[in-house]
Amino acid sequence: MLKIYQNSTVIQTYNETQDKISHLDEIGILYLQVPYESGIIEKIKADYDVPYTDIITVNEETINYDILRDRFNREHIHSDYEMRYFTEGTAKFFIHVDDFVFELTVEPSDLISVPANVKHWFDAGDNPSFTAIRFFNDTAGWVAQYVNE
Ligand SMILES: [Fe+2]
Repeated sequence: MLKIYQNSTVIQTYNETQDKISHLDEIGILYLQVPYESGIIEKIKADYDVPYTDIITVNEETINYDILRDRFNREHIHSDYEMRYFTEGTAKFFIHVDDFVFELTVEPSDLISVPANVKHWFDAGDNPSFTAIRFFNDTAGWVAQYVNE
């Protein structure tokens, strides 16, 4: 689901993949559904010319989830893009552009890339459960620069 807020009020909700793709594309967000198959991670790395990956799993066994959650769940930007491919569970990305916030619920097979310097935050809720592959050029690009702090 994609919910679009304007000044904290929901103005649009989309469930169709094509609607989500096109509305996110309008604000420069790459969003695709890429079915999982053998070799898919290597294919994404090659398609987008990304050299490195790691994997993050967050669930009820995650130590210090509150600290981790707080780090992701505050509005921030990065000097490089933030690209993720979800393989399990669900979570939400929030992307802030002008008066609008785009709330995207991500699910398995979702690929998203938030460009550098686009304000966003991320939350997996009170009962987190997701696994994602993270794609990156350089870990320095990941350092969050918090907005309004
Ligand atoms: Fe981020």
